[in-house]
Amino acid sequence: MWASKRAAAVPGSVFALMDAAKQRARAAGRAVIDLSIGSSDQPPPEEAMEALRAATRDPATSRYPLFSDTWPLRAAAALYLRRRFALELDENAELLPLIGAQEGLAHLLLAVTDPGDVLLLPDPCYPPYRGAAAVAGLQTFPLPLRPELGFLPDLGAVPEGVRPRALLLNYPNNPTSAVATAAFFREAARWCRGRGTLLIHDHPYAELTFGDYRAPSAMEAGVNGVVELHSLSKTHHMGGFRVGFAAGDRGAIAALARVKGAVDFHPYLGIQRAAEVALGLPEERNRVAARVFEARRDALVPALRALGWAVDWPQGSMYVWARVPGLTDSVEYALRAAEETGVAVSPGRAFGPAGEGFVRFALVQPPEVLTEAARRLAAVSPQVRSARQPPAP
Ligand SMILES: Cc1ncc(COP(=O)(O)O)c(C=O)c1O
Repeated sequence: MWASKRAAAVPGSVFALMDAAKQRARAAGRAVIDLSIGSSDQPPPEEAMEALRAATRDPATSRYPLFSDTWPLRAAAALYLRRRFALELDENAELLPLIGAQEGLAHLLLAVTDPGDVLLLPDPCYPPYRGAAAVAGLQTFPLPLRPELGFLPDLGAVPEGVRPRALLLNYPNNPTSAVATAAFFREAARWCRGRGTLLIHDHPYAELTFGDYRAPSAMEAGVNGVVELHSLSKTHHMGGFRVGFAAGDRGAIAALARVKGAVDFHPYLGIQRAAEVALGLPEERNRVAARVFEARRDALVPALRALGWAVDWPQGSMYVWARVPGLTDSVEYALRAAEETGVAVSPGRAFGPAGEGFVRFALVQPPEVLTEAARRLAAVSPQVRSARQPPAP
């Protein structure tokens, strides 16, 4: 009765269904291997933890943080962007701390769009994108991400008459784990400038890349008309800290600061100090953590290929996106896999219609657990059963 049209428009999540399936598996005595949530199991940098511990002992950190109090974190973010991407950003006008990239995106859409505006949205995509678009009252225009184009959108296929207010991209990508080149971002930025479209790049996996591959920043194509969302959740294993930053076009950043000013007061100062320390750590520290996920990829991909599944070697992100031969109902499959084998994966359809036929594995367990998960899944048929079978004893 009290839900607004806006609240009612936020799509429900199949992750609640998956949660119930995991509970049923546990109740049936199965050891659950949960690969359905992309929450890093690695520890945050010890230096960041120490900065947080020290901050909790400093009474000055318990007050409301004002914008001026966020300067050290904005300056640390500017330095990180300079070191990592050779970008020169003005920390006073082109950077803003976030309470995570997810919060940042929802408020950014409120800040830069009006109800009824068109948002170009990849399909499949990180599910909260759809919720954020619904809250902002946007029309979404789907951009299918297809394997034959390396899961990059075909902007040339967007009809001339479509005048999107914003384009949302994310590489390394969740859920497909695809990566994009600097040339791709240059082309996307050129396309956006031609149509008066803001390019929003959600970049939480910037440091989670494998081998020699390093993810570019969309801002390498120029800062005007581009906003990039960075997060310490995956790059520094600080998901629960809820901290990140927005960088880019000063008009969009000012609008975001205005909207956020009506909503929040910036992250707790202790968390800002921890993030500042983490962003200043040498790049090699990020590489060490990324190699943990790389070793997991190296275990899971061959194990899934041995099942006859079509799986690429991801160059980044913390996921493996697998096409399961003969799969037509990924939600039914994921529920059954959880109940019958205790292996919880994310159904591709949860990320959008174009995700059907796929499942997503989060690389959040050690290699031997991942291969055990693949071994268990060999027993689950991808064929939909007309009547659901009771879980095996
Ligand atoms: C693409 C993408 N964006 C944003 C987030 C959330 O980031 P944060 O923890 O900074 O809100 C995630 C988390 O899985 C993600 O995959």
